[in-house]
Amino acid sequence: MKNMLIAGNWKMNTNVFESQKLVEYILGFMKTNDNLKSRVLVCPPFTSVYAIGQIVKNSELLLGAQNCYFEEKGAFTGEISIPMLEYCGVSHIIIGHSERRSYFKEDDELINKKLLAILEHHLTPILCIGETLDERNQGKTFDVLKNQLDKDLSGVSKEQIDRIVVAYEPVWAIGTGISATREQVVEAHNFLRQLLIDKFGENANSVYILYGGSLSEKNADEILSIENVNGGLIGGASLKGDSFCSIIQTAEKYVV
Ligand code: 13P
Repeated sequence: MKNMLIAGNWKMNTNVFESQKLVEYILGFMKTNDNLKSRVLVCPPFTSVYAIGQIVKNSELLLGAQNCYFEEKGAFTGEISIPMLEYCGVSHIIIGHSERRSYFKEDDELINKKLLAILEHHLTPILCIGETLDERNQGKTFDVLKNQLDKDLSGVSKEQIDRIVVAYEPVWAIGTGISATREQVVEAHNFLRQLLIDKFGENANSVYILYGGSLSEKNADEILSIENVNGGLIGGASLKGDSFCSIIQTAEKYVV
């Protein structure tokens, strides 16, 4: 039994109307299944963040953002600051997602700046890390994960570590319908837990380590039952209310 966080990353999907419909479905589920012990988070696109913040503000449903900039304000056309998100009711911010690393060329130095800024504002960063298929085939998975964690968590103290959520998202499993196998997830999450403990001490035992990559209602039980998996960061399946809620129900079997 363990802590669980079920998080939906809606990516560049849903307009404001569609976001509201989806959140109302999830809230309806949460009302009929009150006393959920798993934490539930949705990360809509920026254009929906304020509207969703208004809907969820008196509920248990948490609101997240998919990105941010590290500066508070100024001449940074197109960027969104952490205080702006905080004002909308955001508690969690995804950073380092592989789509941002590859399509938008975000490097570990930038991701680290974002992470430290999020901590400074007392919000929770969800740091995504993961290897590509080439890196896995070359036997570099653990080196890649260690390198990303070392760089992205640079400057984080032992006292701060349990305010960070880590999401292991093998790049080759994202949006492909092919999730990592149970053995691959066990191995990666055990490795990450040990790495965090070695670096940050016992506080790292309470860090949420999420799995992401083609997680669905079909494989949720197999993956969420793994000891060092504290929930999921879900893309495609989080856009369908019934699939997302079914994953929450599965998480309830393993939550403390
Ligand atoms: P999918 O669940 O669509 O594979 O996406 C996972 C992901 O990237 C979550 O951040």
